[in-house]
Amino acid sequence: MDLKLVLAKEIKSQALSAWSEEDIYTLIETPKHAHLGDLAFPCFKLANEWRKAPVVIAEELARELSSPLFSNVEAAGPYVNVHFDSAFAGKEIVSSILEQGVRYGSHSFGKGRTIVLDMSSPNIAKPFSMGHLRSTVIGNAIANLAEKCGYETVKINYIGDWGTQFGKLIVAFKKWGDEEKVKENPIADLFTLYKKFHEEAVQDPSLEDDGRKAFKLLEEGDEEITKLWKWFKNESLEAFKIIYSLLGVEFDSYNGEAFFNDKMEEVVELLNEHQLLETSEGAKVVRLEDETLPPCLIKKTDGATLYATRDLAAALYRQREYSFDEALYVVGQEQTVHFKQVKGVLAQLGYEWANAMKHIPFGLYLKDGKKMSTRKGRVILLEEVLGEAITMARENIKKKNPNLKEAADVAKEVGVGAVIFHDLKNDRLNDIEFSLEHMLTFEGETGPYLQYTHARAQSILRKAGVSTTFTFDGLDDSSSWEVIKQLRLFPETVERAWKNYAPSILAKYLLELAKSFNSYYGNSKIINNDPKQESRLTLVFAVASVLSQGLNLLGIGSPQEM
Ligand code: ARG
Repeated sequence: MDLKLVLAKEIKSQALSAWSEEDIYTLIETPKHAHLGDLAFPCFKLANEWRKAPVVIAEELARELSSPLFSNVEAAGPYVNVHFDSAFAGKEIVSSILEQGVRYGSHSFGKGRTIVLDMSSPNIAKPFSMGHLRSTVIGNAIANLAEKCGYETVKINYIGDWGTQFGKLIVAFKKWGDEEKVKENPIADLFTLYKKFHEEAVQDPSLEDDGRKAFKLLEEGDEEITKLWKWFKNESLEAFKIIYSLLGVEFDSYNGEAFFNDKMEEVVELLNEHQLLETSEGAKVVRLEDETLPPCLIKKTDGATLYATRDLAAALYRQREYSFDEALYVVGQEQTVHFKQVKGVLAQLGYEWANAMKHIPFGLYLKDGKKMSTRKGRVILLEEVLGEAITMARENIKKKNPNLKEAADVAKEVGVGAVIFHDLKNDRLNDIEFSLEHMLTFEGETGPYLQYTHARAQSILRKAGVSTTFTFDGLDDSSSWEVIKQLRLFPETVERAWKNYAPSILAKYLLELAKSFNSYYGNSKIINNDPKQESRLTLVFAVASVLSQGLNLLGIGSPQEM
């Protein structure tokens, strides 16, 4: 049972107004400080309707509200604060977790609605950057949260496989490339060629022209150039897929920029029909002065299309293909203007659904306080980071649990989990200082700490040899009540994390839950062969279940043992 709903029903029965239970429900808050109670109802809105002071209403309500679930109801200024009766409420909370199993924390408000996520979207022939890691893991967690709330999701990896840079790469390969070398180490070698192109172009600016021409030929479907491009693309995708399999992320579509090569003419025609295209210094642009944005470049002087042109075509295609209710673009905040422009152009074309397109930006990884850039060599290879994380996890496990079975699998889950959690625990807009050490600390606020807490709970259950049936008759110590209060917050945390597109909300919650559990574990003897043992074990089971679910929502594994 949802205790917030119990309170909403109670208030509804007292406050004879036109409000529905749901209206009341959404107003109920969880006080920031425990001494203020477990739930609070602000009386301002009711006061407006009744034309009475909120303080007076709070007092009246506090006098009338009652339920065996509440130990104390009191007015505090314009708020009604409700304290739960730990014995009664605890039973309700834990029973409902047992009853709902893996559905605990789920919502149905997303039913029948579709969320399209543009996420990861690395550029071929370039290393998979930490920025793309952020997009991948944030996007994946948001998609999981959406599904938990009942939505259908479509995860699209909009691979960067088109644009002038591929003309440059083709020129570089033809001039200096070696097929064998590329085959051996595709991304690194192609990237070296790409960097060499830029170095040489400083001396010889005609290279830039060659690059543009080569891209033009690619757009026109030139056979030899297309063949080279396809090869670069396949080699890169193979390398990316190794990373995705390590991260445990899957996509519903890999339609990247090139997929829209033959779909951009429609955009240009539409813009023409609406008389939105203007010529500026030979290029075609859409003016966005009303939105106080720089003009959106649609075609270059030589007729080549641009990043924005492709995004416009992709948006149209996605709306038709998936009729999305929301389209999320999980992309670094340096592209904010770009997405505003794309939305602005679609709005000028009269598409209402442009409002349902949302840029979900995130901050940068910094190295020594500076932006990591692919050009300047301050680049950190994700594959190396993950590799090192797994090795460190392995060493740690060897020390802690030398006889662990399947140690290699567990090390993978722990190492990768450390990297993912290090990212997701931060508000996504914050920049993150890149530190392998912090990422891989297995104590404190880290992924491995959560995994370890989960494994500890599982090990208690194993030790007790409990079957699958659990019952809960209530516990009366205060540290178990702290755990139960955290468990109660899981469903609303999921909802809040989704609504704010903020996996960090869930990440921080899991840390609180783990902390409360670890202090419970420290304060009580769980296996003690007394009448309360079964209830204590049931609580352990509920914690393990919520921790494991929460970690999985973040895209992190929860090994049974570590
Ligand atoms: N490939 C781009 C980059 O690495 C990101 C693409 C983001 N998605 C989009 N629809 N523009 O910068």
